[in-house]
Amino acid sequence: MTNNITIARLRGMKQAGEKIVSLTAYDAGFAGILDAAGVEIALVGDSLGMVLQGGEDTLSVSMEDMVYHSRMVSGACRRALVVVDMPYRSYETPAAACENARRLVEQGKAEVVKLEGGEEQAQTVAALVHRGIPVCGHVGMQPQSVKEYGGFKVQGREKKQAERIMAGACALEAAGACMVVLECIPAGLAERITMELTIPTIGIGAGVNCDGQVLVLYDVLGISPRSPHLAKNFLEGAENIPAAVQEYVRAVKAGEFPGPEHSFK
Ligand code: KIV
Repeated sequence: MTNNITIARLRGMKQAGEKIVSLTAYDAGFAGILDAAGVEIALVGDSLGMVLQGGEDTLSVSMEDMVYHSRMVSGACRRALVVVDMPYRSYETPAAACENARRLVEQGKAEVVKLEGGEEQAQTVAALVHRGIPVCGHVGMQPQSVKEYGGFKVQGREKKQAERIMAGACALEAAGACMVVLECIPAGLAERITMELTIPTIGIGAGVNCDGQVLVLYDVLGISPRSPHLAKNFLEGAENIPAAVQEYVRAVKAGEFPGPEHSFK
């Protein structure tokens, strides 16, 4: 399904300084609520491996899982752009990435696919874009690399690491990515990347100066088993779930969320 929010529209929002709002969605019911509340990007995140399936990380999520949840979310979104995560090991080569991304588009009705990694993914991103599949990059803390990090840890505090993250974001843009998620990096680094790129940056634990913000829906509703400090429970003080999502949209648009307490130095 083609929805109202396009990649060109998101780029226009960046240029105009209008904040882009994103939330994860995994099913039709919540996707409909997000869509009606004015969320621009419904992200079918592989975080579903943790919040829906109860796993410790995202590594056991399968292609079948992503196709299934993507189809439900896509069917419910009238306006929001549907971005879908490529699961762990589904994009180890450009050929595998193209095959699996095509499944997400054809069977899951994804409009954009998202994959983790910087410079090392440039060739894969270029191959996908060449085949007409839009790609969202994801740098900083990459949850699919959690074993390498030894836990979900802030990335980019050291100069060399920060330079690698900046170079990765630039390589993704040069390869044709249409936007990039910046996860758990110092706010100052996220701001520099946002100024450097012409494509939108969507932050999570990356400070208020990204072009947009994304959170895991279950964190926004306070129902995650372990809610990270970068998140905020918007259901507290709200009348119901639609009102909580509307308040999240308002707070992001107004530049009130994230505050310094949800960001890293
Ligand atoms: O899987 C996910 O939900 C994500 C967001 C946290 C960015 O990748």
